[in-house]
Amino acid sequence: MILYEPIMIPSGMKDSLGRPSGSLLYIALAVLISAFTAAVLLLPYDTVYIQEETYLLWFLVVMSVCFAVFLLGMTANALLWMRGKGLAGTPEARLLLLVSRAVRTVFSRRLPGLLRTFLKEAMYTSKLRTLSRSRWLAHLLILGGFAAMLVLDVVVTICLDVFHWSPMIDSDGWAKLLMRDLAFDIAGLMMLVGLCMAIVRRLVLRPRQLATELADVASLSFLLIIVVGGFVLEGMGIDGAIPGHESENAYSFVGLAFSYVTPDSAGQYYDEAWLLHGVLSALFVAYIPFSKLFHMIAAPITITLEGLATREAGRR
Ligand code: HEM
Repeated sequence: MILYEPIMIPSGMKDSLGRPSGSLLYIALAVLISAFTAAVLLLPYDTVYIQEETYLLWFLVVMSVCFAVFLLGMTANALLWMRGKGLAGTPEARLLLLVSRAVRTVFSRRLPGLLRTFLKEAMYTSKLRTLSRSRWLAHLLILGGFAAMLVLDVVVTICLDVFHWSPMIDSDGWAKLLMRDLAFDIAGLMMLVGLCMAIVRRLVLRPRQLATELADVASLSFLLIIVVGGFVLEGMGIDGAIPGHESENAYSFVGLAFSYVTPDSAGQYYDEAWLLHGVLSALFVAYIPFSKLFHMIAAPITITLEGLATREAGRR
């Protein structure tokens, strides 16, 4: 498997501009962070639920900083992997080469195989299923819910801020009801159920083969606070009948249930709750590389690469 072979680069190798090739990694990181920050700050946010513009700006700044921390933390972890005895060249140069090979693989005819392996091995985690059904189900619900929310977020943001698509904007538009209300609630509910299952398994059932450290509980609790906070926020929006929640709320069925337990007056603090939920989520993103949640990103990549290597070896 080409991606997995040790990447040998003579230590003195220069890129075409004459710089040591490792420095290109830091240039690429700076470009990525600047592009993300520019996109985050420049989107119009016409249809965002929060009304207080200062809070929105605070959130955007915190999110940009947290994304930079996330990217640098992930790079530092990856560079640790790239340090191997007997390998020539800098870890930065090896990482750069690995990334460029990975990108080339993604944009090659191996993409369908890569996608199939990714969905089967990394998302569906078929190996975990044979080990423990309940652990597998909890994992599938958390990962599936999180991935669905991420995809929905990208699709909804493009529809709202790029295309200004009215079925996604209007309070009673079909796309708004089905995606921004129903689909988001289903994805959040999947995460909520999965997180509760994982916490009960680790703290109450405590199977002997499952070692639980403080870091596991911290990661699960952090995510649980964000997910429950999201539903509380939605409930508060319904209580306060904010624009977007003034009429048909049956599609936000979990948020609606939370609105019955939060006092009606909670609606007036929607903007403050929005900021808190947003900042906690941004901090969560920054925490990923330094937590047990690092495996959330590292595992799907390594599992997919291993699966692909096995498939290709089988064909030879
Ligand atoms: C770790 C990432 C996040 C998770 C797991 C998460 C989770 C949730 C959940 C479960 C809900 C309730 C269901 C629904 O979506 O309607 C929710 C609602 C919400 N989230 Fe998040 N969230 C995350 C990041 C964010 C970020 C970065 C923002 C932007 C500030 C945000 C803004 C909102 C808003 C505005 C609502 C309420 C929607 C409504 O009133 O209908 N979330 N979130």
